[in-house]
Amino acid sequence: MGVLRFRLRDATASAHRRVETAMALDDHCREPESYRQLLARLWGLYEPLEAALARIDWQGAAIDFRERAKLGWLEADLMVLGMNAGTIAGLPRAAALPRVTDRLDAMGMLYVMEGASLGGQIISRRLTADLGVTADQGGRFFSSYGRQVGPRWRDYLLALERFADDQAASARIEACALATFESFLSWFAIGSRPIGIVSGARS
Ligand code: HEM
Repeated sequence: MGVLRFRLRDATASAHRRVETAMALDDHCREPESYRQLLARLWGLYEPLEAALARIDWQGAAIDFRERAKLGWLEADLMVLGMNAGTIAGLPRAAALPRVTDRLDAMGMLYVMEGASLGGQIISRRLTADLGVTADQGGRFFSSYGRQVGPRWRDYLLALERFADDQAASARIEACALATFESFLSWFAIGSRPIGIVSGARS
């Protein structure tokens, strides 16, 4: 499989490395409060990104975003970690987002959000080892599709390859994948400081 997939991987390789550094996921796995801050910040990015993906007409795309939404997992994790629904809904949200006007933009954005579930497997193991966080004890988001991560990623790649022969479409998908990585970068670049979760928010 895949010319377009490899094109996207090459085009975004350096952004991937920068995002890994900016998010400092390793550091956040060492201490419960830091992990909670990470999830809160992820929520602030996933909420608007997934809202944009939910507005797209996915019919005929060989993939359906609604089966890949992960915001609910972040919310479940935050609740396990003591945050209530009202506090979650009031968390700061990212404003600098890629424009998602159609299925091509959406496929590019989804490349990044689905790809993140691959690295998530590594984080998930670390969370269990370092913090004792398992999927149903606050680690649902990073555990993602669990044993289905591989198959779900391959299904996404199959859907992606339907656009591979179309150069203009490929360029649009690539541009939105890059822009999505940039939105992670800018949101996490300011993420070195805590995001003002009201203390005492544990219910
Ligand atoms: C510490 C954090 C991360 C680590 C250690 C990591 C590690 C990895 C690894 C090992 C792969 C290759 C997996 C495979 O081919 O089976 C991968 C792929 C990928 N990751 Fe990450 N990742 C991290 C964070 C992220 C984040 C936050 C994003 C998105 C914002 C992301 C997006 C992607 C994408 C799109 C791919 C697919 C590349 C391809 O086309 O093969 N990763 N990552």
